[in-house]
Amino acid sequence: MKFTVVNNRFFENEQECILVGLFNAPEFTGELAELDSKFDGHLTELVKSGDLSSKLNAVSKVHTFGKIPAKRLVFIGLGKAKELSFDGLREAIGKASKSIQEMKISSFAVALDTLSTDQLDASDIAHAVSEAFTMATYRFPGYKHKGNVPETFINNLTAFSQEDSAEIEAALQVGYAHGRGVNSARALVNAPGNILTSTKLADYATEIGKKYEFEVEILDKEEMEKLGMGALLAVNQGSVEPPKMIVLKYQGRDEWNDVIGLVGKGITFDTGGYSLKPKDGIVGMKTDMGGAAAVLGAMEIIGELKPEQNVVAVIPSTDNMVSGNAFKPDDVITAMSGKTIEVLNTDAEGRLALADGMTYAKHHGANYLVDVATLTGGVIVALGNDKTGALTNDEALFEQVLEASSEAGEFIWRLPYTENDKKRVRSSKIADLNNSPGREGHAIMGGAFVGEFAEGTPWVHLDIAGTATSKSDHNLGPAGATGVMARTLALLVERFESSEK
Ligand code: BES
Ligand code: MN
Ligand code: ZN
Repeated sequence: MKFTVVNNRFFENEQECILVGLFNAPEFTGELAELDSKFDGHLTELVKSGDLSSKLNAVSKVHTFGKIPAKRLVFIGLGKAKELSFDGLREAIGKASKSIQEMKISSFAVALDTLSTDQLDASDIAHAVSEAFTMATYRFPGYKHKGNVPETFINNLTAFSQEDSAEIEAALQVGYAHGRGVNSARALVNAPGNILTSTKLADYATEIGKKYEFEVEILDKEEMEKLGMGALLAVNQGSVEPPKMIVLKYQGRDEWNDVIGLVGKGITFDTGGYSLKPKDGIVGMKTDMGGAAAVLGAMEIIGELKPEQNVVAVIPSTDNMVSGNAFKPDDVITAMSGKTIEVLNTDAEGRLALADGMTYAKHHGANYLVDVATLTGGVIVALGNDKTGALTNDEALFEQVLEASSEAGEFIWRLPYTENDKKRVRSSKIADLNNSPGREGHAIMGGAFVGEFAEGTPWVHLDIAGTATSKSDHNLGPAGATGVMARTLALLVERFESSEK
């Protein structure tokens, strides 16, 4: 995508399509008043008749009939200027981008200053525009021979603004990097389990590692055996696909300290194992590597933006299958940390994979840990499909995650994590832990189990079982994978402040 910032007034330029923001106001002012006079006051008429609406998210297309050099204007309603948030603007631009995409044009322009409010500066707006456009126009190409939709025809974005061009261009690039990270995560999650195996996921990680000069380490089964990763290996036991422990290291500072560990659940397909899922519950389980995808998407954003931070990304990956070799309920396994685990449910496999992922992130020097996982159906029961569930052992780190998520517009809700919850995951009579202490509060149990492997390191758990996919189209993308948490994780890293002084 090519970005151009132009300091002219937007209606003086030839363009296929210009996006213009429309706030709820008694009359046109500034550039919009000038535009209206070029239309001999007809825009005012259109507003009066309701054909042009300033209602938030209303899209109105207006042909210019040669009144100005641009062919068409797409107005996006932004509601009351005082009430428009960064998030609200991003959603509105997403909505408008979708109808611009349908025009099948190759470039579009945006009148940036018509989107500005007291609370949003030109950089925020430029960021929101390119991020929203990139996310909203994402399409999964799929595997049909006919009727595949290309992602977008548009490869040129011109921003008209009177503000500093260099700053605006930089902000457009930042928003674009964020949007692309999300779309990469979506592409991974949408890929089926037979195509995106753990080996392929590792290949993909290796590729981005090369592109951004990350240190890459991919552990194979033998190396895992040597390191005693008995929890991830147990999940892999029934599979013909080899497991992978994927590690990417990004060092943005001189010293390898204050390392943020991002641990993503990379189950490429979850049948449930011997605790087999019912047939309707299996369909869709190709998305069980949503946490891994979020972490890789974030790493792509980090690779583009190069913040002065240290990050280690760890992805324990396998599928969860049945066979004569598969692990079984009642098995007792030993995780890399040394803790023994009684397996009561082979469908609670994500926490097992994450257990070794967490330990291995610490092994690579992680001083802070955030794990992301499509971990439990329980989180969907508790919070629905639009809220990510969180658990933490550290207020300060959670605060930073929460701030990043609100900037990304990705809702997080914290669940309680009490001594009693810890007791329940430690309630096995024969092992240190049990992987399934029962249905009650099981989103908490999933997180609490993973927390046993943080062992005092500040940690936040994010359960994205509900948010990793969307049943329907939305303003910022199509139905299917959402790429949720890629931007939250990237923003957490970009804005991170160590609690150690
Ligand atoms: N991958 C599933 C969780 C899931 C469910 C993700 C629905 C997306 C949509 C996870 O491995 C799982 O099976 N969890 C069990 C845990 C239970 C056995 C303790 C669940 O939530 O039922
Ligand atoms: Mn499962
Ligand atoms: Zn799973």
